[in-house]
Amino acid sequence: MKAIAVRPGQANSVHQRDIREPDINSIPGGKGIRIKVLKVGVDATDREINDALYGNPPKGDDYLVLGHECFGRVEEVGANVRLVRPGDYVTATVRRPGGSIYDTIGTYDMTSEETYYERGINLLHGYLTEQIVDSEEYVVRVPTGLKHLHVLMEPMSCAAKAIQQAFECQRRMKVWRPQRAFVLGAGQIGLLSTLVLRLKGLDVYTLARAPGPHLKSEIVGGMEAHYVSTRETSLTDLVAQVGKADLIVDATGSSSIAFEAMQALGHNGALVWTSITGGKKQIEVPSDKINIEWVLGNKLLLGSVNANREHFESGIKDMALGEVMYPGVLQKILTNPVDGLEGYAEMMRLLVEDQSALKVFVNVADD
Ligand code: BGC
Ligand code: ZN
Repeated sequence: MKAIAVRPGQANSVHQRDIREPDINSIPGGKGIRIKVLKVGVDATDREINDALYGNPPKGDDYLVLGHECFGRVEEVGANVRLVRPGDYVTATVRRPGGSIYDTIGTYDMTSEETYYERGINLLHGYLTEQIVDSEEYVVRVPTGLKHLHVLMEPMSCAAKAIQQAFECQRRMKVWRPQRAFVLGAGQIGLLSTLVLRLKGLDVYTLARAPGPHLKSEIVGGMEAHYVSTRETSLTDLVAQVGKADLIVDATGSSSIAFEAMQALGHNGALVWTSITGGKKQIEVPSDKINIEWVLGNKLLLGSVNANREHFESGIKDMALGEVMYPGVLQKILTNPVDGLEGYAEMMRLLVEDQSALKVFVNVADD
């Protein structure tokens, strides 16, 4: 069957190839699920793997099948599968367990090992192919009523985890009632974080460069959040106008903005970093100022990566509620479909060149 792969370590090596069909019996205990891949989303991670900034092939292979945002339909289930049936729409988690204690209790997103296993990213083949097989443990049902949001399930799981982690950490405060949030970046993670925070009742300011009106500002406005163009209003100006934030989520992909955000957080607040910055950028920061403010304000900095099953499930619930609160808004994120696996060159072109492509995804097969 067809697959889209790269040769890790070799820049711009994205190509189509033939791979063997997966075998449902490769999963022990009758827990295997065979899924027909319908759509796969791609993001900056796929672009940076094709730039050879990171990514490794599975042991014994010299290629890595790309794609970690999957949406498909169950074709066949093993004898002991309970959670899904043939015909169900599903997505799948990305990371697979290593050997730490966190891996053994279903929280593989929190592995303490340096080596991590992620489908389509590191040491495991991904989803940009015609069929996949996985264990019931990693397959998550998508309600039929949300099938129009297909590839957003995985990015949503990362946004859901980041915010859930912040709330979990803030249990250090006996009472924490955050009112104002800044979301830095209006890409998929920024917009989905905006939704999660709005559903928690926060006043949300979502910041990105370009002055509106445009699609991103429309989506932010559609969730009753405030879109702020940093060309018109800098983060410092915003703080002067509305005050510091109780919670900040950085999803800009820029490490300098991640550090700048440290000066926009209020006392007892939490700043969550979610960007994967594959480059080598170095900047100067006002370290004494930040240090004293952080100590005197009991502030928290938190990194968050990946997501486990629980975050997929809570993200899906938030999407369902989001559809009721703000009908039709989420699907506006899904801007750039690419036709078929054969369209992989166009897929990469959109990822690399098209600044207006908010979400690129491949229509692998018809439903
Ligand atoms: C993926 C995450 C993954 C991270 C680091 C992101 O693009 O969505 O699932 O953990 O990259 O590899
Ligand atoms: Zn991703």
